[in-house]
Amino acid sequence: MGKLKITETALRDGHQSLIATRMTTDEILPILNKMDNVGYYSMEVWGGATFDSCLRFLNEDPWERLKKIRNVVKNTKLQMLLRGQNILGYRHYPDDIVELFLKKAISNGIDIVRVFDALNDVRNLQKSIDVIKEEGAHCQCAISYTTSNIHTLEYYVDLIKKFEEAGADSICIKDMSGILLPYQAYDLIKAIKETTDLPIELHNHCTSGIASMTLIKAVEAGIDIVDTAISPFASGTSQPPTESIAYTFKDTEKDPKLDMNALVDIASYFKDIRSKYLENGTLNPKVLMTEPKTLLYQVPGGMLSNLLSQLETLNAVDKYEEVLAEVPKVRKDLGYPPLVTPMSQMVGIQSVFNVVTGERYKMVPTEIKKYVQGYYGKSPDKISNEIKKKIIGNAEIITVRPADLLEDEFEKCKKEINELYESTEDVLSYALFPQVAKNFLEGRKIDNYDKAEGYVG
Ligand code: CO
Repeated sequence: MGKLKITETALRDGHQSLIATRMTTDEILPILNKMDNVGYYSMEVWGGATFDSCLRFLNEDPWERLKKIRNVVKNTKLQMLLRGQNILGYRHYPDDIVELFLKKAISNGIDIVRVFDALNDVRNLQKSIDVIKEEGAHCQCAISYTTSNIHTLEYYVDLIKKFEEAGADSICIKDMSGILLPYQAYDLIKAIKETTDLPIELHNHCTSGIASMTLIKAVEAGIDIVDTAISPFASGTSQPPTESIAYTFKDTEKDPKLDMNALVDIASYFKDIRSKYLENGTLNPKVLMTEPKTLLYQVPGGMLSNLLSQLETLNAVDKYEEVLAEVPKVRKDLGYPPLVTPMSQMVGIQSVFNVVTGERYKMVPTEIKKYVQGYYGKSPDKISNEIKKKIIGNAEIITVRPADLLEDEFEKCKKEINELYESTEDVLSYALFPQVAKNFLEGRKIDNYDKAEGYVG
């Protein structure tokens, strides 16, 4: 037993879920010292979409953000989310990039790396796990939680054993869709607790309206850590509100003992930021609304809005319900992949194609073909020969770890950015998001030139 530990997610998942990851470093820095003294176990501040968003939309260097945050946060562990061999991108990267990326993330201030694979294929996590451990950081392995007739308690217990063997320091149940029901959570956590002594953390989303109830049952089942977001960046498609959860367990043996007065100040600070994004349209009030349909279709909230916007561009919004009904069918055909990045996007596009073209698998994106060929890892369940034939014909299927087929890339990338190079971090940004990083680095060069020349205006 002992107190419930809290991971504050506002600075990563909170704004990723509600305002498309648009919070700037200038908005983050002024409140950090106060947050550092609340009594959180950790703060999730990096990884996920933050890296891409910094470069693509905010003209910020994500590495600088991390260094600046670390400079202020002295008491609280800093946490990031990593997609295993996909790092923070959408494809598999070679081992040299994974290794250097993690070394730099950790030396620039990350204490805890939460690592997951969209297919729960441990081979796609092993390299990350090894480097995280070698670098002396805490390695948290996350289950990409999903439901299907193969995703049983035994399946998850077996996965936890594999995580433990692979070197995990703790376990996370990552319910990106907010579909883990309270009593299922209780059984799942009880089963995991019987399997391992490693600490367990719950990460869920309020999308369907059940997250706080699930969280209570998780605590009853003995969960050690939970993810919450300060109220202005909580609820809707984000995490349960930090303050509400802290009050729920106040004066119980699980009391997280956060500084409740400080939380009031922090919430008031973030309320102003939320107002700004509400007024400029970045925060769509829709994401704050409860959407129990995610329980019916078992899809994450972000995917619902993505599908809708894809159908809008195709002038086929009237097909929305049909596409939603197609998603579980495509999932079944593809061996029940969890709907998390990048599988959520891939399954979403395939479902749209299947409905809009009027013929299933008439059009198949390259990524889906690659997936069926094994280039993303092992599908959770077998894919039938009929579906394989439809999607890839007689193309070859690989069974090795996908990254085993990749050549090292660091030196090649370094050459490619040429005179834009200032640090290893620059090369890593470029390796992950070539065009976006190049634009950013070119802009930086011009800025530096202007500064050196003393340009004004
Ligand atoms: Co999340």
